Amino acid sequence: MAEQAKVSAETQDTEQIVKTVTFHILRYDPNRDAKPYIQDFQVPVRRGMTVLDGLVYIKENLDGSLAWRSSCRMGVCGSCGMFINSFPRLACQTQILHLESNDIHVKPMPNYDIIKDLVPDVMPMLMKHKSVKPYVIRDDMEELESPTGEYFQSPQELENYIQFSYCIKCGLCLAACPTVATDDEYLGPQALAQVFRYNRDTRDAGNEERYRLIDRSGGPWSCHFAGACSDVCPKGVDPGFAIQLLKRDMLLHKLRLKKRPGPAPVMGPPEKAERRPNIPEPPEPTV
Ligand code: SF4
Ligand code: FES
Repeated sequence: MAEQAKVSAETQDTEQIVKTVTFHILRYDPNRDAKPYIQDFQVPVRRGMTVLDGLVYIKENLDGSLAWRSSCRMGVCGSCGMFINSFPRLACQTQILHLESNDIHVKPMPNYDIIKDLVPDVMPMLMKHKSVKPYVIRDDMEELESPTGEYFQSPQELENYIQFSYCIKCGLCLAACPTVATDDEYLGPQALAQVFRYNRDTRDAGNEERYRLIDRSGGPWSCHFAGACSDVCPKGVDPGFAIQLLKRDMLLHKLRLKKRPGPAPVMGPPEKAERRPNIPEPPEPTV
């Protein structure tokens, strides 16, 4: 009974309207508007409501034409990056009450073209990401295509890059970066952090190839280490730090002062491994 009463009190708590805030949203439809403008909406706020929930409320109750991009609602897909109260944030991870303001200013991320309202054109970022070959490159193509075992990697070697592999491609770091704002050629913190991530992966043999791709104007040397990218990153990737380590690795590589170990060998099938009883067989592959 007591447990039921507690659950019911908690439910009431999250349903109760705490206050009403004003969303000031940048609207822009390139097919209709000569230039962007700000539109205001009154939004009743319940405990636990995020900025994304506020946008859903507006779309469902006040203006169905409002456009933005979102998917997972849990800080994983990276699609709801916006400029909220002058800071690049994920809308689904930003609690309205934590902003401690009755005015919520929402704009699309800076440093991107606007497709519509709060939807930025992230294609330039994705193309730069793709251009630096963000995947494990190996010489043993036969093994890659028909694997006979796992590539050996120790827990310590995994530690060396795991933090940088948490990137969700939300693009907030580019929205915060002063170099991205002034230099279209600059690869940006997202792509460069991924160069570092794959170069540090001992299974990979593509670091020289990536160095050739990025050792140019617009590569890591263009980074002034403002550090704004790391301040806004919602996953703790710390792309600013990755770029400085990348510069150091490149320099040591150029001066031939550092030989990179690897690539990691293939471990043979485990010896003396036995299948535990009563484990069902996996289903047939579908592709
Ligand atoms: S480095 Fe951080 S801010 Fe930049 S795209 Fe990846 S997750 Fe987003
Ligand atoms: S909706 Fe996926 S990160 Fe916000």
